[in-house]
Amino acid sequence: MSIIEILADKKAVIDRALDYFLPDEKEYPQSVHRAVRYSVFAGGKRIRPILVLLTAELFMADFKKAIPAACALELIHTYSLIHDDLPAMDDDDYRRGQLTSHKVFGEGIAILTGDALLTMAFEILSDSSYWDDVKPEIRLKIISEIAGASGIKGMIGGQVVDLESEGKNVGAETLEYIDTHKTGALFSAAIRLGAILSEAKTEDLDKLTDYSRLLGNAFQIVDDLLDVEGDEKKMGKATGADARKEKANFISYYGIERAKEKRDQLYLQALKELEYFGEKAGVLKDITQYMLYRNH
Ligand code: IPE
Ligand code: IPE
Ligand code: MG
Ligand code: MG
Ligand code: MG
Repeated sequence: MSIIEILADKKAVIDRALDYFLPDEKEYPQSVHRAVRYSVFAGGKRIRPILVLLTAELFMADFKKAIPAACALELIHTYSLIHDDLPAMDDDDYRRGQLTSHKVFGEGIAILTGDALLTMAFEILSDSSYWDDVKPEIRLKIISEIAGASGIKGMIGGQVVDLESEGKNVGAETLEYIDTHKTGALFSAAIRLGAILSEAKTEDLDKLTDYSRLLGNAFQIVDDLLDVEGDEKKMGKATGADARKEKANFISYYGIERAKEKRDQLYLQALKELEYFGEKAGVLKDITQYMLYRNH
């Protein structure tokens, strides 16, 4: 199978499972139930949950066990986007090719929809009926991994520094903090979850952790590049938004050419980390290339 086919295949698995986990939009109160499905099924790339399944496949023949954790991570990512787009944050009107949640449902419901998605992720993670084939101590490790990556020491920390750095000429260390936290943290969790579920040895987990840090940082640099050079229609979100908000990022600091060099350097380092896993890591190498050299 080509990488495009593999991605489409895994995305279909995730979409089916998300449909199963999410409550019906006819349920009361309908506004929030509709808003949850509106954002989750707006057409995200599903990169994080796909990474969960692919890293699980490095260690297990069957990735089924990893599906609840993969879906939980996508719900948390979707919540982070709904809140990221709010007027109090990036103030964006388009996301995943359609109007942002607050534009359709109003700010109050958009905030509550984000809260609902975050909470729902932990409801799924703590519901043992979805996990009867995973030991309780492993389930706890998974919950702790996802909570840590989403919280103040992870994504939230990064979003705070991102927000507080607007309009400022921050240094390279701060930029690194923003990228490793606002984006890198969920990528790290995604890539480590499959290994944790499979009770992989510490050495394997350490290698994947190093790979995930490189990939997460490079992914955010590419997102910043696409904000300058990408096509709004293909990406489903506005371009030029970072300059408008005077975001502190790799481009505002180093310029486009150096940001691309940094992306290339991180890409090569990421591939090097994957060498350790030999041929088994072929698909991960392909997806790394696909993600870092995409045009939307
Ligand atoms: C966008 O993430 C936000 C960042 C962390 C850069 P994605 O590019 O994965 O967005 P979706 O899920 O495909 O919409
Ligand atoms: C968002 O980064 C990272 C999140 C944790 C949501 P951006 O603000 O650059 O993401 P986009 O460009 O709006 O998707
Ligand atoms: Mg943002
Ligand atoms: Mg944004
Ligand atoms: Mg962006």
